Amino acid sequence: MPRARAPSAAARSTCAPAARPACTASASTTSTSTTSTASTPPSPSRTRSIGELKKLVEEGKVKYIGLSEASPDTIRRAHAVHPISAVQMEWSLWARDIEPEIVPLCRELGIGIVPYSPIARGFFGGRGVTQQVSAESSLKGHPRFSAENLEKNKQLYLKMEELAKKHQCSPAQLALSWVLHQGDDVVPIPGEKTEDRLACMCFLIEVKCVFKKS
Ligand SMILES: NC(=O)c1ccc[n+]([C@@H]2O[C@H](COP(=O)([O-])OP(=O)(O)OC[C@H]3O[C@@H](n4cnc5c(N)ncnc54)[C@H](OP(=O)(O)O)[C@@H]3O)[C@@H](O)[C@H]2O)c1
Repeated sequence: MPRARAPSAAARSTCAPAARPACTASASTTSTSTTSTASTPPSPSRTRSIGELKKLVEEGKVKYIGLSEASPDTIRRAHAVHPISAVQMEWSLWARDIEPEIVPLCRELGIGIVPYSPIARGFFGGRGVTQQVSAESSLKGHPRFSAENLEKNKQLYLKMEELAKKHQCSPAQLALSWVLHQGDDVVPIPGEKTEDRLACMCFLIEVKCVFKKS
């Protein structure tokens, strides 16, 4: 299967042409992004953005192009303008919407998949179940964290906890392992604020690599 170049961390920048001055400035000073991610505008303007980003690739100012929150149609059209290296979408045991269309499409086109919120925005870390969601948190407005749904989801969390005990890990690690297990073209980005947690998650990624080699 043809495979686009693997993504590095999907560094954000706004869509070209807005990205152009930033990339030019960045190239002439210190660091440059290796991946430029086109996000939010509707499809026709995204296709234009990819055309502009393509020019930045040709000028050596950007190495890879990624998309965030893109529809299958946008992915196809963007990829026709320039190979897309990675697509960033929510994917976890709690959010599996991308499985019917986006995942097969990315595989067909050889695009890497970068699942964001692989721990379900902290839910598999116990947020909303064993930990409170703070009143100021944006999650308060998220339907999945509404009181009614949390009660239902709690049952799911308890099952995960049981399974995690069996595998001698935490529910968050189990949730991340599930995402990591979806394929070698899948590179999740969990939200880690402490070194300990980051080390834990890196360990899981290393284990995956070891299994892959053996
Ligand atoms: N493209 C987009 O539209 C989009 C949208 C959302 C997010 N993202 C990106 O995706 C990345 C992660 O998103 P996210 O923060 O929603 O991801 P997440 O990994 O699903 O959730 C992060 C939360 O999980 C908790 N957590 C992390 N590791 C844990 C562990 N080992 N044990 C227990 N709890 C743990 C953390 O809680 P604590 O607060 O206690 O540390 C953290 O707040 C970010 O880089 C973000 O920018 C992109």
